[in-house]
Amino acid sequence: MAAHAGKLVVVGAGAVGSSVAYAALIRGSAREVVLTDIDEAKVEAEVLDLAHGTQFTGASSITGGTDTALAAGADIVVITAGAKQRPGQSRLELAGTNARILERLLPAMLEHAPDAVYVLVTNPCDVLTVAAQSIAGLPAGRVFASGTVLDTSRLRWLLGERIGVSRASVHAYIVGEHGDTEFPLWTCATIGGVPLRDWVGPDGSAAFTPDVLDGLAREVRTAAYRVIAGKGATNYAIGLSAARIVEAVLGREDAVLPVSTVLDGQYGIREVALSLPSVVGAGGVRRVLEVPMDDGELARLSHSAEALRASAQSLGY
Ligand code: LAC
Repeated sequence: MAAHAGKLVVVGAGAVGSSVAYAALIRGSAREVVLTDIDEAKVEAEVLDLAHGTQFTGASSITGGTDTALAAGADIVVITAGAKQRPGQSRLELAGTNARILERLLPAMLEHAPDAVYVLVTNPCDVLTVAAQSIAGLPAGRVFASGTVLDTSRLRWLLGERIGVSRASVHAYIVGEHGDTEFPLWTCATIGGVPLRDWVGPDGSAAFTPDVLDGLAREVRTAAYRVIAGKGATNYAIGLSAARIVEAVLGREDAVLPVSTVLDGQYGIREVALSLPSVVGAGGVRRVLEVPMDDGELARLSHSAEALRASAQSLGY
C-alpha cells in the first residue's frame, strides 16, 4: 500500500501516541513515522514493537527516540504528550498540567521543525491550541487540534448503527469544545442525503425523535468517560482520528473535517479554539466553514466558546 509522502512526528509514546503511530503505519498516513518521548525505555520499546509488524503494513517506516532533533524536517507534528484523564476527570481539569508540558516541548519542536503543521491531541486540545498558537506564533491554519473529529466519528457510528446504514453515508457533525460542552449540528445532519427528521423506522414512525437525538448526543458526549472507566484510557479511536487528519494534510485532500482552530470572527467568536467543519489540506486548515445553525445551536456554540475562553484565560492565554 502506498503511503502519503511526508514525515510525521508523534510526540508522546503513551497509549494515544503509540496508537497514532500504529494507525498511521497501517493506513499509510505518512511515508516516515517518528515517535518521540522523554522516557527512553518506553519509546524504544514502542518503536521496536511497531517495527516488528511492518512486514504487514505498507511502505511506511517507523523510528523514534528521545532526541527532539528527530523532528528535523517534519511535515506534520502530532502532539499527544501530557497527563491523561483519570476516571471521572474532565478534560479541562488537565489544562494547567498539560499547558506547562506544552510550553517546554513546543519551542524545542519548532527549533527542528519550523515549517511543520502542528496538531494538538493532548487535552484539553482546544485550550492547548490557543496556548500553542501563542507560543508558536504560526499562521492559524498551521496549529490546530483534532477537536471533535473523534466525537463526530462516534456520532456517525451511532447514527449508522441505529438506522442500519453505513457510517460512510452519515453526514453529521459534533462541534464546539472537544469536551463537555460539545453538541451535534442536527440541522445539517443527513443520512444518504435525507435529513434526520425525515427518516422513519421499520414501523413507519420517526426514527430520530427529540428524545432519541438527545440520547445520542449524551452518549457521544460521555463516551470517553465510559471507555476510561473500563480500560483507563481511550486510544484506538483517537489514534485513527489523528491518522485521518495527517492524511488530509499530507495528501493535500482539502477534506472537510471538524478540527479545532483559533477562530477569527466566525459566528462572532475570536481568540477561542473550537471545532467547526473545516477544509483540511496542504499546510493545515485552509478554511473554516460557517455552516447554517439554528438559534439553539448558536447559543450552544457561544456557551462552548465561553467555557473554553475562561479556561484559556485561567492559564494566562
Ligand atoms: C477522547 C479523548 C481523546 O475523547 O479526549 O477519547
